[in-house]
Amino acid sequence: MILDPSQRGRLLPLPVVLISTVDRSGVRNIAPYGNVMPILRPLDLIAFASWFRRDTLENIRATEEFVINIPSIDLVDAVMICSKNYPKDVDEFEEAKLTVRESEKVKAPSIAECIGWMECVLEKEVVEEGKYAIIIGKVVYLEVDDQYLTADGAIDLEKARPLSMMLGKDGMQYTYPRQIGEERRYAEMSIR
Ligand SMILES: Cc1cc2nc3c(=O)[nH]c(=O)nc-3n(C[C@H](O)[C@H](O)[C@H](O)COP(=O)(O)O)c2cc1C
Repeated sequence: MILDPSQRGRLLPLPVVLISTVDRSGVRNIAPYGNVMPILRPLDLIAFASWFRRDTLENIRATEEFVINIPSIDLVDAVMICSKNYPKDVDEFEEAKLTVRESEKVKAPSIAECIGWMECVLEKEVVEEGKYAIIIGKVVYLEVDDQYLTADGAIDLEKARPLSMMLGKDGMQYTYPRQIGEERRYAEMSIR
């Protein structure tokens, strides 16, 4: 089947994260984002793409901070609640019945129910034609809930079940990544 080029998300598994922010007056906001990408393996930068009309974007421009929270598949309903376009003064922690977890390095709150937390400061905003922006954040604090770790410190995927998705024609097919028993070393990529 030949697909329209705009349907490229139907072939590409995407992570689903919840980005939490506050506005200047302290109103808390949460929004799901799927267009998220770490910038190269050893660096501490992470990028996401946002349409212009997002409270998340306004809050990040105002405060230069945000938290990328990693939800498990158990939070699908909360993700969908946070995806609604509430007025700016609505606290989305309350709407989605999620618990505030004080962040370590930024004022934006983290979400207690999540698997892990990336506290970020704004590094750069790349603006495209007044339509969308790519936000590049520097991770200043990173933590994972210990209950989702194996004895040797890896993420236990069957416990954590981090939310991911494939895009469909009319919606999102939620999923999570599985181990397939293939662990390969980075060193294998080098010919020396
Ligand atoms: C799973 C999922 C992923 C999403 N990914 C993005 C995204 O990458 N970029 C974006 O601009 N909007 C994305 N959205 C839409 C926003 O989450 C939605 O418009 C939300 O209301 C924005 O909230 P805010 O205005 O409080 O920031 C996504 C929605 C869902 C359900």
